[in-house]
Amino acid sequence: MPVPCRSRLARRRFAAARIVVNRDAAGPLAAANAAAHDQQLAAYDDFLEALTLLDFETMMRSLDRFRALLRDHMALEEDVIMPLCLEVWPEARAELERIDGDHRILQRSLAAVHDALGELRAAADARRTLVRWLGVFHRPREVLEHHSLRESGQLYPRLDANLDSDRREELAMRLREPPVHRGG
Ligand SMILES: [Fe+2]
Ligand SMILES: [Fe+2]
Repeated sequence: MPVPCRSRLARRRFAAARIVVNRDAAGPLAAANAAAHDQQLAAYDDFLEALTLLDFETMMRSLDRFRALLRDHMALEEDVIMPLCLEVWPEARAELERIDGDHRILQRSLAAVHDALGELRAAADARRTLVRWLGVFHRPREVLEHHSLRESGQLYPRLDANLDSDRREELAMRLREPPVHRGG
């Protein structure tokens, strides 16, 4: 029996809600990057969950944690990973520009969330205001999922294939480093 369109769509959306990387087949860097992104997505989901409850205290704590995770991860990629990628894969410049562009979009979408939160706090009817801003609040999650797939496509597999094992393990450890100083 053919699957109804709505069910197919729902299944596709469910699949898109997780970073789909075959961890067994992925090299150590691709797997470490996917794990870091999963951690970021979980922190953002904590924020979204608190948002649905209009629990401002938990909301701000979760959002601060997400911002910190994202900031550290993007800094490592921009300062260390991307320059290294250019050394082992000189044709990567256009792809690295796209990745850098994603980082800027992520930052802009988080700035829009910050502005929307200001409106939400001041709103007489917070629930209705939340409904109006749902797209803005969900946007960073969508961008991050798209970005994760992009990085899993070429950047990390190329590094896994071209770096020696000591360098790979050292970078994988830095990507996985738990943010203990933030209670992570
Ligand atoms: Fe990443
Ligand atoms: Fe990134």
